[in-house]
Amino acid sequence: MRIPIIAGNWKMHKTVAQSLEFVDEILPLTAEIKGVKVVLCPPFTALYSVGQRLQGTHIEMGAQDVFWADEGAYTGEISPPMLKDTGSKYAIVGHSERRHQLKETDEDVNQKVKSLLQAGLWPILCVGETLEQRQAGNARQVVKEQLEEGLKDVDTTGTDLVIAYEPVWAIGTGVNASSEDAQDMIGFIRQELAGKFSQEMAERVRILYGGSVKANNIEEFMSQPDIDGALIGGASLQAESLAEIARRAEGIVNG
Ligand code: PGA
Repeated sequence: MRIPIIAGNWKMHKTVAQSLEFVDEILPLTAEIKGVKVVLCPPFTALYSVGQRLQGTHIEMGAQDVFWADEGAYTGEISPPMLKDTGSKYAIVGHSERRHQLKETDEDVNQKVKSLLQAGLWPILCVGETLEQRQAGNARQVVKEQLEEGLKDVDTTGTDLVIAYEPVWAIGTGVNASSEDAQDMIGFIRQELAGKFSQEMAERVRILYGGSVKANNIEEFMSQPDIDGALIGGASLQAESLAEIARRAEGIVNG
């Protein structure tokens, strides 16, 4: 049984004070939710404070990125043990904004995945095609390669991993993928994982959809058999909005 995840990716938003205000607001709004895990991904600067505030609560925390070395002369970077220290359980890797704007490669993503797993943190590995790639009929091929490269030489025995399928053209645009198209790709990803690793692993891994998810479309996505939740940007910035998405997700799960 895969417990779905509703994860908020705040991107480069919120000061420490704003982050804590959000946490204080969302905790009571989601206290009764059962069968859905809520995860917050604040910016690095707010991780420690948010982690402290979330201790012992029903909400978990993730970072938005990580560097692959444990320590060393890497000015400006943050390592997996440092993230662990803040109370993070997850870290997003390979988000398309980093792949496209910061020129992150599949090789970088692969190193990050491996170092997170080694530290006992869960990667949320993002994959997804651009509009151009979809229109050219290459969406599956692109996602397949991102998966293969991102998970190259990764030992998944006994480890946990989350995948997020985020078509680039749906991120922050208000144009979400149809739930059928998202299911089609996410079913394909699960099939690829079964082939590359094992059936057991493919059935265990949660695969999220991301790209313009809001309260009014989460139910369609959650109704699909392979979609195990969502990674949410814009609609995760207000506590009431993210809580409403989690409540509606719960409605489908416990339907
Ligand atoms: P969006 O972002 O919900 O604002 O489209 C999703 C993401 O980038 O993870």
